[in-house]
Amino acid sequence: MKTIIEPFKIKSVEPIYFTSEQERISILKNAFYNPFLIKAHDVIIDLLTDSGTSAMSSEQWAGIMRGDESYAGSDSFFRFEEAVQSITRMQYIIPTHQGRASEKILFSILGGKGKFFISNTLFDTTRANIEFSGAEGIDLLCDEGKHPSFIAPFKGNMNIDLLQKTIEEKGAENIPLIIVTITNNSGGGQPVSMENIKQIKTICNSYNIPLFIDACRFSENCYFIKQREKGYENKSIQEIANELFSYADGCTMSAKKDAFANIGGFLAMNDATLAQQCRNLLIITEGFPTYGGLAGRDLEAIAIGLKEIMDENYLKYRIRSIEYIGEKLEVAGVPFIKPTGGHAIYLDAADFLPQIPAERFPGQALCCELFIEGGIRGVEIGTVMFGKYDANGKTIPATMELVRLAIPRRVYTQSHIDYVAEVIIAVFKRREQIKGLKMIYEAALLRHFTAKFEQI
Ligand code: F0G
Repeated sequence: MKTIIEPFKIKSVEPIYFTSEQERISILKNAFYNPFLIKAHDVIIDLLTDSGTSAMSSEQWAGIMRGDESYAGSDSFFRFEEAVQSITRMQYIIPTHQGRASEKILFSILGGKGKFFISNTLFDTTRANIEFSGAEGIDLLCDEGKHPSFIAPFKGNMNIDLLQKTIEEKGAENIPLIIVTITNNSGGGQPVSMENIKQIKTICNSYNIPLFIDACRFSENCYFIKQREKGYENKSIQEIANELFSYADGCTMSAKKDAFANIGGFLAMNDATLAQQCRNLLIITEGFPTYGGLAGRDLEAIAIGLKEIMDENYLKYRIRSIEYIGEKLEVAGVPFIKPTGGHAIYLDAADFLPQIPAERFPGQALCCELFIEGGIRGVEIGTVMFGKYDANGKTIPATMELVRLAIPRRVYTQSHIDYVAEVIIAVFKRREQIKGLKMIYEAALLRHFTAKFEQI
């Protein structure tokens, strides 16, 4: 088999600025050991997120010039609407400035005290918007999804038995909708199977509860269905996406992921009354319904990106490039979530640094070492992000201690990825000397963004 090459040529480049290890030690100290507080200029390979960091194509840049900036009824909106409808086949398409704006609108209308929203795993902004409305979010991930090294094809699936039980317990009338995150970002970028979506839909139908999809990474999920689920091997990504969305009543989307855009999002749905309510709120918070917080040029870039994202040569390269890091780490014995998912590699920091207890933040310590070793920026998804305190102020740790290295779309080449693997392995070799961190400042909500640490 020949090497799977990047399915693009590079027309425009951005420089990477290099730093010495000595410089990085002082940069990190000045950033209080929190990668969010490091200037992007000081990062060599930035794997903080795959959101809004994609390289746009020459076609998308051409679309930027074509963007129609009319306040109402712009041509760009109709091209955007057509692109979203060709994937979702939904009737009402509402543009927003990014995914969480869609969430804010949807949950402001449907949420509130006494309501419950059930998911496989809610992303943190989704959960925050649900809780901000006064409602409660409930994650019902399947058991396979909870064990980092357990190999299964669809570790993003929802636990169907628990779904039925939870609906009975909370009362269908208190559950405005069920929302499935594809792929499951917080659980390792793991896909959800078509079978699972169908089962969820059957249960939703029997209780008359609408099903929504958090569609940020829909195309990566559809590619996994094509690779791993019987009956889909000869279908196009578009056909798989059409079938998947046919089971849903609506979706939220961040176009910063699987639409190759630097900003943008949307809501799509079939319920006319709900769409009207969403548009009324959109006008107050985002903008007129044919631009919703975006410039015409952004709508144009999204419309083109949504078509490019379903190209199978791209998806093959995309999923392979993540798997490729996994293979290198596997040989070196580095612990990570298996199998590798769609958009990122998730190092298992608890297993990588067993000497560091959760309250000394092994994931954060590992992030810091990756930066010192090679200028790589990742993000902790562990006790810094999800930890809580009990009544006595003792830390209640997160269920997993992970470091996510998210790969921006079409940005880095194979040699960048080789370098990333080398840096991780170099840190792994000196793992026994690595010490934990002490948190010296934290905000009341979403503390990981601004927390400050010192070395022990
Ligand atoms: N849902 C999922 C599954 C996400 O991963 C994100 C964003 C959102 C919703 C919110 O979208 O950022 O456009 O408002 N995830 C980014 C990340 C931030 O780094 O994983 P947004």
